Amino acid sequence: MKEVIDRVLFTPEDIEFKVNELGSQITADYYGKEITMVGILSGAIIFMADLARVIELPVSFDFIDVSSYGKSSQTSGVVRIQKDLEKSVGDKDLLIVEDIVDTGLTLKYLLNNLESRDPLTIKVCALLNKPDRRKVEVPIDYCGFDIPDEFVCGYGLDYAGKYRNYPYVFVLKSEIYS
Ligand code: IMP
Ligand code: MG
Repeated sequence: MKEVIDRVLFTPEDIEFKVNELGSQITADYYGKEITMVGILSGAIIFMADLARVIELPVSFDFIDVSSYGKSSQTSGVVRIQKDLEKSVGDKDLLIVEDIVDTGLTLKYLLNNLESRDPLTIKVCALLNKPDRRKVEVPIDYCGFDIPDEFVCGYGLDYAGKYRNYPYVFVLKSEIYS
């Protein structure tokens, strides 16, 4: 495991603390409501599973898979839906759960797409944010950590499908993807 890690950015304890904080904030903000968490596959699933368990409100899950990445670490700018939501969103309060917002292209596309289906409300919760890389403006209502412009993996985030199961967020050694 160690040979791919440049350095650990957030330990399991750092993440747990932050997830609890986000959960409390979301619970307070949505008091009396039911939340439909929309997880963006596959990166968001570990974060979403932990976050859902610290939200003290009725929560249901749906998932969408959009891709803008091939096997490289650079965004292609091309976003398409690979797997759509299972349920209609007309009368729901949607909370989009994302692992990381990088250029913002994925989230921008998704927000436009979901807004056109007329949900009651729509908000965004992202574990990680790379503000230096932003190409389009997107709202992040709940944000875990801002990080520098480095490629990170673990806690759901992958490189070429790998490292999602590492329980911490780490900077990938650049020789792995260069
Ligand atoms: P965006 O459209 O450029 O904002 O890219 C968002 C998506 O790119 C995320 O959902 C991730 O799947 C992926 N991504 C961006 N940066 C990283 C990273 O540092 N590690 C792993 N995946 C990343
Ligand atoms: Mg993703």
